[in-house]
Amino acid sequence: MSHDDYPTDDPAVVTCGLPYANGDLHIGHLRTYVSGDVFARALRKLGQQTAFVSGSDMHGTPVAVNAEKEGVTPEEFALRHHEKYEATFPKFNVEFDNYGHTHDETNTELTTDIVRTLDEKGYVYEKEIKVAWDPIEDDPLPDRYVEGTCPYCGATARGDECDEGCGRHLEPGEIENPTSIRTGNPAEYREREHKFFRVSDLQEYLQEFIDRLEGTDNAKNQPREWIEGELQDWCITRDLDWGIDYPNGEDDLVLYVWVDAPIEYVSSTKQYTERVGSDTYDWEQVWKDEGDIVHVIGRDIIQHHTIFWPAMLHVAEYEEPRAVVASGFVNLNGEAFSTSRNRAVWADEYLDEGFHPDLVRYYLTTTGGIERDVNFSWDRFQERVNGELVGTVGNFAYRSLLFAARNFDGTPDADVSDEVEHRIESAVDDFAAAVNDYSLKRIGEAATALAAFGNEYIQRNEPWKLTDEDPERAAQVIRDCVQIAKALAVVFAPVVPGKADDLWSHLGESGSVHDADIQAALEAPPASFDEPSELFEKIEDERVEDLNEKLQASIEAATSDEDEAEDEDMSDEFEPIADDRIGFEEFEDLDLRVGRIETADPIEGADDLVRLEVDIGVETRQIVAGIKQLHDVDELPGTKIIVVANLEKAELFGTESNGMLLAAGDQADLLTTHGDAEPGTKVQ
Ligand code: 2FM
Ligand code: ZN
Repeated sequence: MSHDDYPTDDPAVVTCGLPYANGDLHIGHLRTYVSGDVFARALRKLGQQTAFVSGSDMHGTPVAVNAEKEGVTPEEFALRHHEKYEATFPKFNVEFDNYGHTHDETNTELTTDIVRTLDEKGYVYEKEIKVAWDPIEDDPLPDRYVEGTCPYCGATARGDECDEGCGRHLEPGEIENPTSIRTGNPAEYREREHKFFRVSDLQEYLQEFIDRLEGTDNAKNQPREWIEGELQDWCITRDLDWGIDYPNGEDDLVLYVWVDAPIEYVSSTKQYTERVGSDTYDWEQVWKDEGDIVHVIGRDIIQHHTIFWPAMLHVAEYEEPRAVVASGFVNLNGEAFSTSRNRAVWADEYLDEGFHPDLVRYYLTTTGGIERDVNFSWDRFQERVNGELVGTVGNFAYRSLLFAARNFDGTPDADVSDEVEHRIESAVDDFAAAVNDYSLKRIGEAATALAAFGNEYIQRNEPWKLTDEDPERAAQVIRDCVQIAKALAVVFAPVVPGKADDLWSHLGESGSVHDADIQAALEAPPASFDEPSELFEKIEDERVEDLNEKLQASIEAATSDEDEAEDEDMSDEFEPIADDRIGFEEFEDLDLRVGRIETADPIEGADDLVRLEVDIGVETRQIVAGIKQLHDVDELPGTKIIVVANLEKAELFGTESNGMLLAAGDQADLLTTHGDAEPGTKVQ
């Protein structure tokens, strides 16, 4: 079954992965919420009735462990963070129709109800399993209370998730060499009765579901391997006293946090209906009858959203998701954000610097496709703001509207030319196609390309020369430009909601651009408006230097204590130098060349691989490199690298690799040249 194109006649609900209520938000976290907000606004622009919901994830060990460290109850701790999140999202123009939390009455009731249904339908059974236990403290150690080794890939992992390795969900008892994170005691395994959800009975359904699922390729492809393999049943209870009780269960058993968390998507929609009335938005229609359910998440939680969650929905007779849109992570200056090391640009800090929220929205939405990891740096931020927002969008809007206000007091009395009408129609088509392809980047590009066209159009027609020579023609050109500016406000509104509203009011429009649908792009703007102000402000070089220094200082302050302690052990961090020396001739056997990346394309279906075309002077080589998650692939073209040019050819994921690039460390820091050595130059 394929779905109708957006906008459909059914209601849609766009949800964002629930943030654990356990820490401060940085701009890396914002990617999911901004993406969800852009998509929900874009659907509404196309005319589809859309609710946008989320909430805080209050339960589980991610919250309990941190609350314990602070010496407060999990409830007090989680509520404090929930309130902070609820206040922060709107500051980034992320406007949920409802933002609830998993510990409230609606979610507790709905979760109890759904779990009861799974049980009554025979999908839950009890089994004795091994769970990690602290033998000295005599305490259970569920999920994040233990760390150990992933049985699948050998990486250091948390009790329920191989977060630094293969990314798999781990069932209780699976992690090897478990150690308590509370006491450092080696944990032992004890036998306990727990409840299991028979996911294994749903293989056929899940296979069909994944074939119907829309969204990003990672969400559609990654789960196939799990579904087609041996599907494990899922343990849905934990030995913990923070969470939602298993219906009529033992006192010391709560539901696993991943059971009640996604149910909050439904609860939050229900609360929205309770507030606005079912005539305005009917949660039951979307969740139980027919609707378009779109989940926007980070790529680390694909398995939960494409296996466990649809399995629960199916058995409980709810609607299944239409799409899962899974974004890559955000890195900072090429490395992962780190809360403990203060390697972060915090959401509050960003706003305190006085930057408009729409700037970072634009950056997060349009730097690389949504599946890719995005690198944030203040330098790149400055480059994109100054180049695209100030130079292209702001420049076009300001010069057009200023000219119109000064010479015509607003919109000139003339018809829009065919050329401009067609160009706007094609921007509207691009916008609709981008929504249907779940491409937020292309939604943004539909707008910036229109602004670039506007600049080219005004430059080509030089209305400033026409005002005296041919006033009628001048009026016509400016009429076109004002129409382009209006279309720009409409098409760009999902990505930069605040700035689009400013442009809307510069055009003399009343109300908000968010109440206008996409067709308004072709409707005439008001006849009169005043001189506009500049939409975007340039970021100066000194400002960026200052921001980089501040960031560096806060990283150093946070890490200096740790570093002092670690200094003595520094040598342990690196592998020892190889004992075997090689002769110069052996080194000379390596043909190392300077190369320049010409193109970079992710290899479909492969988690890490990128196909590069690399100019190595004498020829252009195709090289496959495992750097997809570690670099912003769109940023790679133009980068100089060092290539092992005489390595035997290899085939990776069905693609020939003719050479290898050199990179340092786990983060694949690419080796490059310090000076201007040309591609082809031998490295010696
Ligand atoms: O991984 C996380 O941060 C979880 N709090 C996401 C939950 S999303 C959903 F299913 F509710
Ligand atoms: Zn693993």
